[in-house]
Amino acid sequence: MKERILEYLRNSKKYVSGEDISRELNISRTAVWKYINKLKEEGYSIESSSKKGYRLVESPDRLSYEEISPLLDTNYIGRNVLYFDSVASTNDIVREYAQRGEPEGLIAVAEEQTKGRGRMGRRWSTPKGVAIAMSMLLRPNLSPQFVPTITSVIAVSVVEALTSVTGFDIKIKWPNDIVLDGKKLCGILTEMSAEIDAVNHVIIGMGMNINQDDFEDDIKDVAVSLKSYSGKSFERKLILAEILNRFEENYEIFKFHGVSPFIDKIKRFSALLNNRVIISNINEKFEGEAIDIDMDGCLIVRLDNGDVRRVISGDVSVRGLYGYTP
Ligand code: BTN
Repeated sequence: MKERILEYLRNSKKYVSGEDISRELNISRTAVWKYINKLKEEGYSIESSSKKGYRLVESPDRLSYEEISPLLDTNYIGRNVLYFDSVASTNDIVREYAQRGEPEGLIAVAEEQTKGRGRMGRRWSTPKGVAIAMSMLLRPNLSPQFVPTITSVIAVSVVEALTSVTGFDIKIKWPNDIVLDGKKLCGILTEMSAEIDAVNHVIIGMGMNINQDDFEDDIKDVAVSLKSYSGKSFERKLILAEILNRFEENYEIFKFHGVSPFIDKIKRFSALLNNRVIISNINEKFEGEAIDIDMDGCLIVRLDNGDVRRVISGDVSVRGLYGYTP
């Protein structure tokens, strides 16, 4: 009901009387008053006048369904939103829903995460109200070996969205990080549940630094936010909606043609190509020059002895960017 009142206020733009709302939505005047107070508590600025009624003046930068959905052009991505003020990890929430058979497109968004997870068992910090923590459920009809390429498709969508909203020079540190000014702006954690030859579900978790003024000591040399870089605040809901819009368009192409239509963009946005890199996998660690990304989305590295290696996934550090320790 609260959502319907908000929609009513949003559509009318001028004052609407409590009586009109109560008649239109078939609830009592007291109920209208209670819901309006609830909306105010959530950060909506609503003017109340005993003569004229209520008027919505400003909406908060919340990542709730009510705030994101008017900005979406999608058919199914982000049309079902689980919104949390505070949660341990949005990836864990989406996993629970995935196991219960929820269809693809569901997203979980949180204003704060208390146990946010990064890759390789690392911690991911999401302080309240200044970042984006979002996880999305997908059910691609793919063999599990191709799942890592979805990470590249979301990375391209993130760069496209951020470039169009901010105009900044945003890059992909293949395959999982989004980089600004040589530091980490956004991390992507792709998790899947699969059989030998079929994927049950994929969860893409994205954590993005938007309006943090600064960072905790342990990450302040490696992390950047849009605000710490530019001194300006950004509307998180606009950025999130733009990412979801771009992603649905790209994911539809990916479903039919795989990752190859994105290779040009992956290369263009790459922070790795023609740079010295160190690749760490479970079994090995090697160093060389990143010379290409092939049509399957794999990184091609030339070692110092001239050998060429094809890397499907791994932890990469790049000379000139955070975390490079030769
Ligand atoms: C990384 O760079 O290591 C990946 C970070 C991924 C963080 C996001 S925030 C939303 C989702 N929930 C989590 O617990 N992790 C991912």
